Amino acid sequence: MMRVAVIGNTGQLGTDLLNALVEAGSYEVFGLSHREIECTDPASVEKRLKTLRPDVVVNCAAFVRVDESEDRPEETFRVNSLGALHVARACAEIDALCVYISTDYVFDGEKGSPYTESDAPHPINVYGVSKLGGEYLVQETCPRWLIARLASLFGKAGSSGKGGNFVETILAKAKSGEPLRLVDDIRMSPTYTRDAAQALERLLRERTLGLFHLVNAGHCTWYEFACQAMEVVGLQHRIEPISALEYPMKARRPKDSSLESRKLNPSVKECLRPWREALKAYLKEKGYLSSHG
Ligand SMILES: NC(=O)c1ccc[n+]([C@@H]2O[C@H](COP(=O)([O-])OP(=O)(O)OC[C@H]3O[C@@H](n4cnc5c(N)ncnc54)[C@H](OP(=O)(O)O)[C@@H]3O)[C@@H](O)[C@H]2O)c1
Repeated sequence: MMRVAVIGNTGQLGTDLLNALVEAGSYEVFGLSHREIECTDPASVEKRLKTLRPDVVVNCAAFVRVDESEDRPEETFRVNSLGALHVARACAEIDALCVYISTDYVFDGEKGSPYTESDAPHPINVYGVSKLGGEYLVQETCPRWLIARLASLFGKAGSSGKGGNFVETILAKAKSGEPLRLVDDIRMSPTYTRDAAQALERLLRERTLGLFHLVNAGHCTWYEFACQAMEVVGLQHRIEPISALEYPMKARRPKDSSLESRKLNPSVKECLRPWREALKAYLKEKGYLSSHG
């Protein structure tokens, strides 16, 4: 049985990944929460991983608050770049496959169509630079690596770093009657953590190495995403589409960071359904729809 350690197992992606691996039934799975491992501390990483000696380490730990990163670059780099390095070093020493989770924010968003794995990254904010740093350090440090770029995650656990997820925030605001203004000129590929977790499990099963984009198929703006969520749950609430220029944020955002994959096998791609279907499945899982809805 393949022994898989998941760092950051209590987070949004980590929770679903742990479940996907357990459900698959062919792995011995070890969740490593922040209490059990500190990625920024090489001694903690080495001790944990050398004791456990897994065949695969999936590093889902990250500093994910993109705006806060602009004011806290040291902390961001300590987790996203150096943390990735410490994990990759320990993996190299125990001959484990090192899996690093990355982001669409490694791109600048100027391409005008979805980015593939062969497009050159060019991040425009601290978080994106720190994640790209993590990618490079993993590739340079561990002989066997897998990097999966995900995007705009929504999942049952909600992001522990961000305190929830976009869908829940929007639905809560709509229910309370709060006016909603959402950006309609920033495009991305919304991704259900459950689908990304299942795709990752398949990549591990097929012993795949390399760099992959793992997102639900298609793309939309934040405004379109919110409208779709409201429509699925049957909420009538007006949302005003606005430009990102009307909603200044600390960190610059790529205008269009939608992703697609040119490399995935059909068996992995089939986990990554169109985002509208994934959103509906998520809303059903969260109990917003009847089981027949
Ligand atoms: N969220 C998104 O929209 C998004 C988009 C693209 C890519 N990604 C990437 O996907 C991955 C998972 O994101 P997520 O949304 O699941 O994040 P999350 O919910 O914030 O989960 C991160 C996990 O890592 C743990 N952690 C944080 N700092 C750590 C450290 N220094 N040492 C050990 N553990 C630490 C957290 O524990 P505590 O909460 O207890 O600190 C938590 O369990 C990340 O690599 C992120 O960069 C996310």
